[in-house]
Amino acid sequence: MPDNLRALVRNAVSITGGVIVTVSAVLFFVVFFIDFLGLHTNPYMGIVFFLVIPAVFILGLLLIPIGIFIERRRIARGLTSHLHWPAIDLNKPSHRRGAFIVFILTLVNVVVISLAAYKGVEFMDSTTFCGEVCHTVMEPEYMAFQDGPHSRVTCVQCHIGPGAPFFVKSKLDGTRQVVAVLLNSYARPVPSPVHTLRPAREVCEQCHWPEKFHGDKVNVHREYGDDEKVTESITTMRVHVGGGSEKLGIATGIHWHMNNVDNEVRYIATDDKRQMMGYVSVTDHRTGAKREYYAEGVTEEQLKKNEPRTMDCMDCHNRPSHAFDPSPERAVDAAIATGEMPKLPFVRREAVAALKVNYPDQVSAQQDIATRLTSFYKGTGDYNTRRGEVDRAVAAAQRAYSRNVFPKMNVTWGTYPNNIGHTSSPGCFRCHDDRHKSKDGLVIKQDCDLCHDME
Ligand code: HEC
Ligand code: HEC
Ligand code: HEC
Ligand code: HEC
Ligand code: HEC
Repeated sequence: MPDNLRALVRNAVSITGGVIVTVSAVLFFVVFFIDFLGLHTNPYMGIVFFLVIPAVFILGLLLIPIGIFIERRRIARGLTSHLHWPAIDLNKPSHRRGAFIVFILTLVNVVVISLAAYKGVEFMDSTTFCGEVCHTVMEPEYMAFQDGPHSRVTCVQCHIGPGAPFFVKSKLDGTRQVVAVLLNSYARPVPSPVHTLRPAREVCEQCHWPEKFHGDKVNVHREYGDDEKVTESITTMRVHVGGGSEKLGIATGIHWHMNNVDNEVRYIATDDKRQMMGYVSVTDHRTGAKREYYAEGVTEEQLKKNEPRTMDCMDCHNRPSHAFDPSPERAVDAAIATGEMPKLPFVRREAVAALKVNYPDQVSAQQDIATRLTSFYKGTGDYNTRRGEVDRAVAAAQRAYSRNVFPKMNVTWGTYPNNIGHTSSPGCFRCHDDRHKSKDGLVIKQDCDLCHDME
């Protein structure tokens, strides 16, 4: 460095800039190492990574020339630098003591800051952070998550995780999302499928061992009538869950699809929600035989435009953690079946009607649902004699609403279809519709007993 430049740098502003540059560079490497060692997985750390630290770093860098500029003008005006370095002489006991205290305090500072940073990073991996910090944006998924079968699995366990490609991708995504929230420009509803979701093999199969599925599962569906007695009708079905592998016996049943080692199903969806299947292929890896099915009227161009994908758990279990009721009828049936909603006269009809109204927001929905139901039961006289049950019915209807409809996010009944089944959305019938044909005239079958027997 030429002498005159060295003199120019020796000013308070430039030195502050230099300190900021150094500290932010050190912090960047600390955060990088926490990440690199897999000590956390949160995508929103990307804010610290790509935005905050670099911004501070650049601020520091800018301060250096600004300081030089100011200093040069001062010198030009005949002023000399006021900055005098203190002379430290470690032979003097008082200086030694001072240096020692500064050293100890710095050490304490480093420990405190590291601990705080680590705690902060840990907090960012919690479901509380993911579900509650961007409250409005994540509310639908967080509500459904809390009473879903995976409420003890953390968001990051399914959504992100270790591995270099996902590391960078999720950091970039997280940063983009934070910017979208700050600019209020995010999509409502949040779109799915989530294209950056990790493959099922690395997520679901950590806990669910695919080769161990077998046999049937008996499911009981209860529906209720709009009549005064709220008549119950029950469908009991034996669902052929199946599974297995070549080693444990031939794979059968529904989980035959996920047996990617032996059978590989690939498809090309022609819409971005993966609801329209243009092309489906099955390869039997034991024999190498491949069969290809085409949807009616699908064009060569549609197939070229869209990515092929190998079917995995998420193509059927697309709502393992965020399942919403597809309709008010289903939500009310479920509430009556569990006993949450008492069987008052016409309660099914009245609750469904109250839930079907288009409310502008949660608060007015909650008030209106209560008014509608109580005034109905005041009319029938039940309010006087069975007040407790009316209040419980109101609470159950209100909960069904707040659990499924989120006006601020444009999420309502049926916004997020569930691909298990076929009665509320195409689900299995996206392919099993008797209309996906192979060149030799075979179809993907819709025979009812392929998947379940009714009892
Ligand atoms: C058991 C695994 C699992 C857990 C735990 C989980 N998710 Fe999801 N999440 C998914 C799957 C699967 C999808 C849908 C992916 C698709 O359709 O491609 C999804 C989709 C989403 C979407 C996109 C919008 C939508 O509803 O499809 C958001 C937002 C989301 N999850 C947030 C969260 C939050 C917040 C948490 C924690 C409170 C969480 N997730 C926990 C598996 C999970
Ligand atoms: C960290 C472990 C873990 C991960 C990861 C995980 N699950 Fe689960 N899953 C469980 C446990 C535990 C249960 C049982 C919950 C119960 O019985 O209440 C369960 C239950 C289920 C069920 C049955 C739900 C029901 O209503 O009975 C399905 C289906 C399922 N998981 C699918 C998935 C899919 C698909 C993924 C990947 C997106 C996944 N799981 C990821 C632990 C996990
Ligand atoms: C072709 C669609 C499909 C695929 C692919 C699929 N499943 Fe399933 N799975 C189902 C159906 C349908 C059921 C029965 C649903 C029910 O409980 O009513 C089921 C049931 C389950 C259950 C509950 C089993 C029980 O006996 O309670 C678990 C756990 C599960 N699946 C996990 C997985 C995992 C993990 C994968 C990926 C390795 C996977 N599934 C792939 C359709 C599928
Ligand atoms: C992406 C397309 C696709 C979807 C979606 C799909 N399947 Fe399939 N499924 C297939 C194909 C292809 C076959 C094999 C047809 C053949 O024999 O060539 C098959 C075969 C089956 C079989 C017979 C397995 C055996 O033992 O041979 C069952 C059972 C089954 N599917 C159940 C389901 C269920 C339940 C769902 C919904 C949860 C579902 N499938 C969704 C494509 C699909
Ligand atoms: C490709 C597989 C498959 C085929 C083919 C199939 N189903 Fe289903 N069906 C399912 C699955 C999966 C469910 C959901 C299981 C559950 O939730 O218990 C279901 C659910 C049902 C339900 C209960 C609906 C509810 O949610 O209350 C009825 C009724 C039903 N199927 C009737 C039929 C009839 C009738 C046929 C023949 C035209 C048929 N299914 C063909 C897979 C299939």
